[in-house]
Amino acid sequence: MRSMMIFYLFYFLCLCLSVACVVCVCVWNSQWRGGFAWDGSSREFNWHPVLMVTGLVVLYGNGAVLYRIPLTWAHSKLPWKILHAALMFLSLILSIVGLCAVFNVHNAGNIPNLYSLHSWIGIAATALFAFQWVAGFAGFLLPWTPLSMRKLLKPVHVWLGGSILILSIAASISGINEKLFFVLKGTTNGTQPYSSLPPEAVVANSLGVLIVAFGLIVLKILSTSEWQRPDGSEDRTYAVRTSRTKNCWIERCHPKCCVLLSSSLYYVMKVIEEQLLAKSHPPF
Ligand code: HEM
Repeated sequence: MRSMMIFYLFYFLCLCLSVACVVCVCVWNSQWRGGFAWDGSSREFNWHPVLMVTGLVVLYGNGAVLYRIPLTWAHSKLPWKILHAALMFLSLILSIVGLCAVFNVHNAGNIPNLYSLHSWIGIAATALFAFQWVAGFAGFLLPWTPLSMRKLLKPVHVWLGGSILILSIAASISGINEKLFFVLKGTTNGTQPYSSLPPEAVVANSLGVLIVAFGLIVLKILSTSEWQRPDGSEDRTYAVRTSRTKNCWIERCHPKCCVLLSSSLYYVMKVIEEQLLAKSHPPF
């Protein structure tokens, strides 16, 4: 009981830090960096930090801890798997759009691509994430993947998941620092130097601290064994059983899933039937 209360305390912190990170990155880029556009200018660049932090840090971290929420344990695992995959997919899309923004700006201004340490870490994080999503989808959501394969994949998936979060936090921190060194020059562009800690630097540094705190909380939640979902028995019902059963895969899902599918099919058939009847016997 005490352990669950501590979990919810950590989870609450995780949610608060999520909101704080998104608000902070938006405020920084709208108040100090001129807001947003999609025209190859520095205003297009501003989408990059916003989408990377929202997608590859905040949404990703929240998607990763989804299974640890005890409220989800009472239900079948399948809907949570789908939600986990959907959150991760959204996070992947946001990060790809975020990368498109910075590549566009670089190409429009003839700035070389992928020269910095930040960009190397960042591209590695995104590429690994894309690979992880595809492998996770194929391994855990496709019903014909054998259980033995899932068992093999799971520890790799968990390890890679944590590593991607660490990489994306490293990329965010280095990106924030790089940006502050680029823009807070002090003399040339009417800004105060970074070394004098102007308000913009305070906000951006704080964003970095919030991202690190968020990452530490997520990693703590992921690494505490007491907070893991008890043995995934549903996994077995969803996975393809070997040659002994030849019935349709839907039947091998959770029974509730079967009821839901058949009642939705029944409803769709009813609507089609009513439409056809209305066409053949018009009211007037
Ligand atoms: C998960 C987070 C992030 C990832 C994966 C990431 C990834 C990348 C990549 C791959 C590039 C290279 C684009 C090119 O070469 O055309 C880049 C550029 C850049 N990013 Fe990020 N980024 C992230 C977060 C941030 C954040 C939060 C900032 C803060 C402003 C930032 C600032 C920059 C800057 C200034 C550049 C241009 C200079 C350079 O190529 O290093 N990034 N980013």
